[in-house]
Order: sequence, then C-alpha cells, then structure tokens
Amino acid sequence: MMHLLLGSRIQTISMMILFWTATVRSSLAFSTTARHVATTRTTKNTVRPFVATRLFASGGGGGGRVSSAVQDKDTLSKTDTTKQNKKKKVEKLDTQPPRGTRDFFPADMRLRTWLFDQWRSVAATYGFSEYDAPVLESESLYTRKAGEEVTQQLYNFKDKGDRRVALRPEMTPSLARMVLLAKPIMPIKWFSIPQCWRYERMTRGRRREHYQWNMDIWGITGVEAEAELLSAMVQFFKNVGLTSNDVGIKVNSRLVIGEVLSELGIPEEKFAATCVLVDKLEKVPIDAIQGELEELGLTKAVVEQLLETLTNNSIEALSDVLGKESKAVQQLQQLFDLCDAYGISDWILLDASVVRGLAYYTGVVFEAFDRKGELRAIAGGGRYDKLLETFGGDPTPAAGFGFGDAVIIELLKERNVLPTLLDKQNIDTVVFAMDSEYYNACLSVAGILREAGQKVDVVLEQRKSKWVFKHANRLGANYVAVVGSNEFENKEVSIKDMQQSKQETIKMDDLKEWVATTTTTEVASAKDDDGGDA
Ligand code: HAM
Repeated sequence: MMHLLLGSRIQTISMMILFWTATVRSSLAFSTTARHVATTRTTKNTVRPFVATRLFASGGGGGGRVSSAVQDKDTLSKTDTTKQNKKKKVEKLDTQPPRGTRDFFPADMRLRTWLFDQWRSVAATYGFSEYDAPVLESESLYTRKAGEEVTQQLYNFKDKGDRRVALRPEMTPSLARMVLLAKPIMPIKWFSIPQCWRYERMTRGRRREHYQWNMDIWGITGVEAEAELLSAMVQFFKNVGLTSNDVGIKVNSRLVIGEVLSELGIPEEKFAATCVLVDKLEKVPIDAIQGELEELGLTKAVVEQLLETLTNNSIEALSDVLGKESKAVQQLQQLFDLCDAYGISDWILLDASVVRGLAYYTGVVFEAFDRKGELRAIAGGGRYDKLLETFGGDPTPAAGFGFGDAVIIELLKERNVLPTLLDKQNIDTVVFAMDSEYYNACLSVAGILREAGQKVDVVLEQRKSKWVFKHANRLGANYVAVVGSNEFENKEVSIKDMQQSKQETIKMDDLKEWVATTTTTEVASAKDDDGGDA
C-alpha cells in the first residue's frame, strides 16, 4: 500500500515538473521577456529541466532499466535518440535581436527616456506641439524617383490584403500626409520622436532602426524658420552639456546649386536628382556615378564647375562666384545675421559642399557634425517647400530637421557627459516586513508613501535584512522602511536613511508629513557617477 502511494506520489510530482518544464519552454519560445530571461538566468533554467528529465526517466521510463549500472547497446542507442528528439524540440532561441536593431533593457530605457525628455523639453520651450503617425505607411509615400539612398533602403512588403506597405524610413512624408489630410491653420510648429527603419549598411551610429527627433515648421517662407530650428537644436546641445567646441552646424543653400545649374543651362527638373548625385560625391568617386551623371545630361565639365563652386566656405567667396544679386547669397547672409541675433553664431558655419541626400530639399540645408570628425552627421535638415505639391497639395513652405538617437549617444559617451544615476532605478523607499505577519502593515506603509508621491519598492517575499539593504543599494533607494514586531505593535515604521546612515521611527499617522520633509529622487543630469549605457 505504502509502496503504491509512494509510486503515485512520484508520478504526480513527475507530471507537475513535466508541466512546469513545458510551461517554461513554451514561454521561452514565445515571449520577448523570456528571451531576456534565457540570457540572464541560464544557470537556473538548465539545472531544473535536468532534474525534471531524470525524474521522468525513472518514474515513467520503466524504473530500474534506466538507473541500472549496466545498460545494453540497445538501451544506449534508444537513450541517444530520446536525447536527440528532446534537443530537436527545444531548439535554442537566438537571443540576439534582428541585425541592426536594439533591445532596450531597463538601463537603456532610462537613457532613452532621458534623451527623449531632453528633446521634448526643448520642443516645449520653443513652442512645438507633439504629433505621431503609424510606423507602417503606404509604400507609395516613399517612391520618389530621384535615386535617393533612403528609398532604396525601404523595409517594404505586401500586406495580407495585397497592399504595398513600408516601415517608415523617415517622418517627413508622414507629416506631409497629415498636413494634407487635416489642413491645419498655418503656421504650425510640430515635433515628433518616431522610430525609423532603414535597411542600412551598418557603421558606427548607423543602424537599421533609430529614433529620430523631428522638428518642423510649416507655413513660413523666410529663413526665420530655419534660424528658429537651428536655435532649438543648439539649445538641446547646450542642455546636454555640449559646447560649440564639440559640435558645429554646417549650413548651405541648395539655391547655390540651382544658380550654377541655371547658369549652365541645365533645366530645373534635373535639380533634385543632381542634388542627390552631388551629395553622393561626398562618399563615392566621380567615376562610380559617371553613368548616372551622364543620364542627367551633366557633363564632366558641368560637374567640375559645380564642385568648384561648392568648395567655397565664406559668403564673400560665394558672392564672388555667384554675384551680389545671387538669391542664395542673400538668403544665407540673412540666415547668418539671424543666427547672430539668436546668439548661436559660434555653432554655425557656411559649408557650400553640404547638400544632404534627400531629394525634396529646395533651399537652406544644414547638418550638425562632431568637430573631431569621428562620427557621422548628428542631425540634418532643411527647407522643403515643394514636398506637399508632389502629394497633390497646394504649395506650402516648410522646413525642419531630423536628429537621430544613435550618434548623439555615441558623442555624449565619448565626451563623458552622459547623465548620471541612469543605471539606478531612482526608488525613494524600499519597504519590507521583518516577518510575514507584518506584511499587510508593510503594504499600508507603501500605500501611504506612494499616495504621497514617493517611488516605492515593496519586498514581495520574506528576505533577510542584509539582502534588503543590498537590494536597496542596487536600486539606488534613499530610504529603507521596516515593519517589525515593535513597529507593528506601536503603529510605527522604522526608516533608515541610506545616505546618512541614520534611523528614525515614524508613527504611521505622521508618514505623509515625513514624506514632505524628504527630497524625492530625480534622474540626475549632472555627472557624478558611472552613468548608463544604451
Ligand atoms: P536624414 O538626413 O535622412 O533626414 O536623417 C536625419 C538624421 O537621422 C541623421 O542626421 C541621423 O542623425 C539620423 N539617422 C538617419 N539614418 C539613420 C540610421 N540608419 N541610423 C541612425 N541614425 C540615423 C531625414 O530623415 C529628414 N526626414 C529630416 C527632416 C525633417 N527634414 C525635414 N524635416
């Protein structure tokens, strides 16, 4: 009888463990969180299934045969096949995210949130309103024919309804679509922080997905819009601790190219495609795109003359080439005067070789760069007065910029100005019960502190004080609140100040007042420890 009971017990336990193993396995296969678990908890996850397999073998596999010291060949090969089958079933998950994309673990998320907060804060101080659009758009939004890289890097496919769609590689076409749709009263100043997808060749700071701060002004014809945008960008750099020694913004106008082309008798419709090709000349030798240039009717002589003009890096030099009446020169002069008025001249320089690779820019273009010259463009933008027309809308002036998250994080890391405490969670108080019988009282304490606005972590299981203090340190908590027998009896809580190593006892009724006397944690922006990582 006893034997039977024991046998069925073992079977039940085996079944439970089997169920547990299956649950762990299936959740590992399907959830992203589980991918992280698989990465960080390998030891736990490998030990337990091993125990479960052994129990299953002795319980369900015919007892003595498997545990016997002497096994015949047949048994051995059977065991091998079983092992192989098991291996096949639990094919190890590739824990890496798709190439060129990123996971954002909590520390990365804190850094990302911090960066977005900086962007949002500048946008708010410059009076911009936030908007958003779907990451999936109709592919036709991006099928421009000027040979831009961005349209060749599309993540595009047919959806189940046979529609051609694409993940947005940039936000500007979506913004134009939204303006066309809603016809907002002009002018508008809108900003967004979309995730953008480009099938890029990966280099430092270039990935297949990135977040891009977009700031755009619509409805303003003059370069006052560009100056406001440049000032906002500089404000951001200053706010995060960068100076004009770290970062510069090269400014040019595509009108320069326009004027050279019209002087040489090249028709206007070749303007956009020529700009895209000239931009490529920065990266590839002229011979590599000779064919494309010829297709546009651009002879080597024309291109050489164009490039010659684009080497000018002062308004005076440009004026000598294009003449005093040049619209490009006048426009750039006005922009530089406005930058002076904004107090940002230190950051701005003329560089006639800056063209930017997007076809739709029509006037001023600009590009923020790292003065050491080690990184790719930090941000880029310009005027695009004709984009709405290409979607069938009325001519509407517009200018804006896109500012990626990847290069700026690289730069902040390198200049050692990354914000601090981002590796900690900024918990105000860790609350714990010395014994499970005080757990409910500990929840009341947590409730009062949370209502009063503190960030509180409750220790959810029975732990020793030593563990709790270590845990509080890891979280960067300022206080540990303890409910033990004395505290419970006197309706009190003991609170240890982690920084000053002092302890006080507070009546539960006075907890709210106590919170008012404390300073809550904030994500710091001044550098004083090792910072986070993206
Ligand atoms: P864009 O020059 O293609 O412009 O990109 C703007 C910025 O986005 C770049 O300077 C860089 O910071 C970031 N970026 C672009 N591609 C990547 C990538 N693969 N990995 C990491 N960062 C990247 C535009 O997208 C325009 N739509 C910007 C704009 C807004 N123009 C007017 N309004």
